[in-house]
Amino acid sequence: MVSLKGGQVIRKSKLFAALTLNAKEILKSEIDRSVKLEAICKLLKDKVRYYNWVGFYAVTKERPTELVLVSYMGEPTQHSRIQFGKGICGQAAMLRKTLVVQDVSKEDNYLSCSSKVKSEIVVPIFRNKEIVGELDIDSHVASPFTLEDEAFLKEIAEMVSEFL
Ligand code: SME
Repeated sequence: MVSLKGGQVIRKSKLFAALTLNAKEILKSEIDRSVKLEAICKLLKDKVRYYNWVGFYAVTKERPTELVLVSYMGEPTQHSRIQFGKGICGQAAMLRKTLVVQDVSKEDNYLSCSSKVKSEIVVPIFRNKEIVGELDIDSHVASPFTLEDEAFLKEIAEMVSEFL
C-alpha cells in the first residue's frame, strides 16, 4: 500500500498501473524527446511520495563508459557525469543490472547528492542489448523500494529506451 498526496491510501500495483498508462501517453505525444523525459521525471516525482529525486542518465557512443545526466526533477546535483564503476549509478552501469540500496549509509561506493537521501534505486536502460542509460531514483525514506517498484521502473526504463 502507498499513500497519495491527498492522504488516500491505495495499492502500489494500482498506482503503478495508472502511472504506466500516463507515461505511455506522454511518450506517444507530439512533444520533443527531452520534454518527454522531463515529463516522465515529473510524473514519477509528483505521484510517488517517496520518489524525491528522479533522473535519466544517458550513455553516448562517443563516451561509452560515462553516464551523463540528461533530465531530472528534484534538487540540482553535482553528479552530472559519472564514470562506470563509480557510485551506485556507475556500478549498475558496469554490472548492467538494477541496484537497490535500501540504506545508502551502508554503501561505501556511493556518491552523495544530499544528506536527506536515505535510499536509491538505479535501473539500467538497454536498446538492442546495449546500455544506453539509466533511470535513477533517490528517496528520503529508508527501505521504501519493493519488487513492485523494481518491476514498475523496469517497465518505464524499457518504454523510454528509444527516447534517450
Ligand atoms: N547517488 C548516486 C549519484 C547520483 S545522484 O543520486 C543523483 C550514486 O551513488 O551513483
